[in-house]
Amino acid sequence: MTESKADTETTSGATAARVPSAARPARAGKAEALRFVATHTLPVFVRGVVSPRFKVVSAYAAINQYGWSAATLRAMRDRHGGAPVTVRGLSGQMLVLFDQADIRKFFEEPVRILAMDAEDKVKGLGVVEPTGVICSHGDLREDRRKVNDEVLAWDRPVHPACGEYQGVVEEESLALTARAGLDFAQVRRTLARISRRVVLGNRAAGDEELAGWLGTLRDEGNWMGLRKSRNKANRALYAKAEGRIAQYAADAPPHTLVARALHHPAPEGTDRLGQVHHWLMAIDVCAPVIARTLLLLAAHPAEQDAAHADIATGGRELPRLRACVQESVRLYPIVPDLVRVTRTETEWGGVRHPAGTSVLVPIGFHQRDAARVPAADLFVPGRWLEADADRDMRMAPFSHGGGRCPGDQLGLLLTSAVCAQVLRGHRIVGGRPAVDPHRPLPGTVDTAAIRLRLAPR
Ligand code: HEM
Repeated sequence: MTESKADTETTSGATAARVPSAARPARAGKAEALRFVATHTLPVFVRGVVSPRFKVVSAYAAINQYGWSAATLRAMRDRHGGAPVTVRGLSGQMLVLFDQADIRKFFEEPVRILAMDAEDKVKGLGVVEPTGVICSHGDLREDRRKVNDEVLAWDRPVHPACGEYQGVVEEESLALTARAGLDFAQVRRTLARISRRVVLGNRAAGDEELAGWLGTLRDEGNWMGLRKSRNKANRALYAKAEGRIAQYAADAPPHTLVARALHHPAPEGTDRLGQVHHWLMAIDVCAPVIARTLLLLAAHPAEQDAAHADIATGGRELPRLRACVQESVRLYPIVPDLVRVTRTETEWGGVRHPAGTSVLVPIGFHQRDAARVPAADLFVPGRWLEADADRDMRMAPFSHGGGRCPGDQLGLLLTSAVCAQVLRGHRIVGGRPAVDPHRPLPGTVDTAAIRLRLAPR
């Protein structure tokens, strides 16, 4: 699915309407801003910006919170003719992008100009990974990004340590198929072990204490630094976790991410071990992705057959299963809002905005926009098998450009490998919550409630 000229026009005529008013700044009125905060930004914070609160996700699924947010964004886009809209959010003003040309520019702009370390992101993630690439800027960020790119082998679908990781996945996934039923809690436990083994080595597999410390820090990150009385305790906990990670790193086998990081020559200040926190968290986050992908496959038997055929070829790349995972994260993104901050004056829709402007692309909304994405609310993994689909800017579950996820290939490798292990020798014959493949898929899935029924194949 490549982009054509027609694709840049919306059914609401957004692009056409925008031209004459391009030089006039579009600003949300008070009522509009209130609606934006109530239905979009506040729910994002309540759900948890660092660590998802699954009970909140369950409630959002019950009330169709996504529908409220999408209706707000659609109304905002239509009212302002697709122009970038300045709106006062919870923590100050931000510029919301709707037009495809603006979104393309957002992805193409260098990270030195459109920086990743927007204030809100740093307030949240800074508790968990204060020296992580995502919280950095300038030369330091470049150095940290290089470590991530190298260690995660972002440019290779099959990671150099794929054989070892495959072995870890095979051993740990046995627990997932031991019974006829499989639930989200099991997938979560399994991914936590896979995460620690891949990042730190087998010695760390059962380190629930470290998991507890990191879990506390991630939950604290959700408070975005508001609980100032906790700052000292958080720093002490981070130091404890840092010490434990350094112990594992001291004799980690070469295939582990931590050993690969230490092997990578990096300038002082790069804090190679400081990157580990994001990696552990990101692999943990693969658990909900896997659970939702399997639920979608349960509801789409023909796609499940295609996945079985993929597995039967015996290859490591599993293109069909990867496509299923990509489609699952398009429908249910891990990062539904992409936020950046400008480091110089920039121009959006013909209007100059000063350095320090927060810019938001609500990608979760855009990649489900029926006006731009065909069959936007349906599970169509085949779209990801088309040439250049991965670079199609209408869909960005891993983002694009200089801020694109450096762990996309590793994430797809691990998630598709776990799905393959569940499907190998089994068929998913039922799933809860119920998913109707003939109707638009819900905007939110009650992930914690996912239960799957397996039958021998
Ligand atoms: C299906 C799984 C995953 C999804 C959907 C995903 C998605 C994303 C997205 C959308 C971003 C950009 C965030 C932003 O703009 O604020 C990002 C950044 C990042 N991801 Fe992932 N990710 C996944 C798995 C992973 C894995 C497995 C790793 C490493 C082990 C990883 C490491 C990172 C890092 C280090 C960044 C920060 C990049 C930077 O600041 O330049 N991700 N991810």
